Amino acid sequence: MFPIHIEQLRFTPNGRTVLAGVDLDLNGEGISVILGPNGSGKSVLIRMIAGLARPDGGSITWKGNGVPAGQIAIVFQHPMLLRSSVADNVALGLKPMGLTRNDINIRVGEMLKRVGLTHRAEDSARLLSGGERQRLTLARAWAVRPRLLLLDEPTAALDPTATETVEQIVREIRTDGTKIVMTTQNLGQAMRLSDDVVFIEAGCIREHTISARFFSRPQSHEARLFIKGELPWRISFDD
Ligand SMILES: Nc1ncnc2c1ncn2[C@@H]1O[C@H](COP(=O)(O)OP(=O)(O)O)[C@@H](O)[C@H]1O
Ligand SMILES: [Mg+2]
Repeated sequence: MFPIHIEQLRFTPNGRTVLAGVDLDLNGEGISVILGPNGSGKSVLIRMIAGLARPDGGSITWKGNGVPAGQIAIVFQHPMLLRSSVADNVALGLKPMGLTRNDINIRVGEMLKRVGLTHRAEDSARLLSGGERQRLTLARAWAVRPRLLLLDEPTAALDPTATETVEQIVREIRTDGTKIVMTTQNLGQAMRLSDDVVFIEAGCIREHTISARFFSRPQSHEARLFIKGELPWRISFDD
């Protein structure tokens, strides 16, 4: 399914340009971070990769046989959970996979352990803190062993301690061999997690380079301004 080849992707709702012809190739290894200011088009881009939104132009092509069912998982900024137990929330994604009940239970237990929620297994998911909820959605996504995990600002609503825990889980999912594409507007997070950085600004990819290079010698004017904290932020109210 890799590389993912994105060509001239456009999104122009009501004539307003949100994605202005995005060209991007993503390989199957490591963590690609889509970094950019608020309103630059990160969520729209990641939703299009997930097949959740349609472009007005351009294409996304997957190598080989395309996207096999069940190979992509996505986690959003605000966790979406069932009003049932923590364990049930993890089991949810496993139900369509044809596993036995016993195998499901084993995998749920394994996942809760990996995200540090074993002791909360039987609690209602509604009782969890923001950080715990996000850990639970990561466990649910990880449980299906996706080849590609898309994360849209998974820590934007979390405090620094919860953020650190989530970042550690993201690293472990990467080590398991899952390709991760995540968005953030947090420079420190991009620095801590990325193998390669896709810098997006005003719906254009300004730069796509390996992480060390991006932070030591950004090539584009916009990335330099952003790193220096001088890029004017676009205000958006779409929460
Ligand atoms: N379905 C939509 N229709 C119209 N405008 C949209 C839609 N989705 C997003 N936008 C607009 O596109 C711009 C980029 O949004 P988004 O991708 O959410 O930015 P980011 O995630 O980088 O903060 C914003 O101005 C947003 O309001
Ligand atoms: Mg967003």
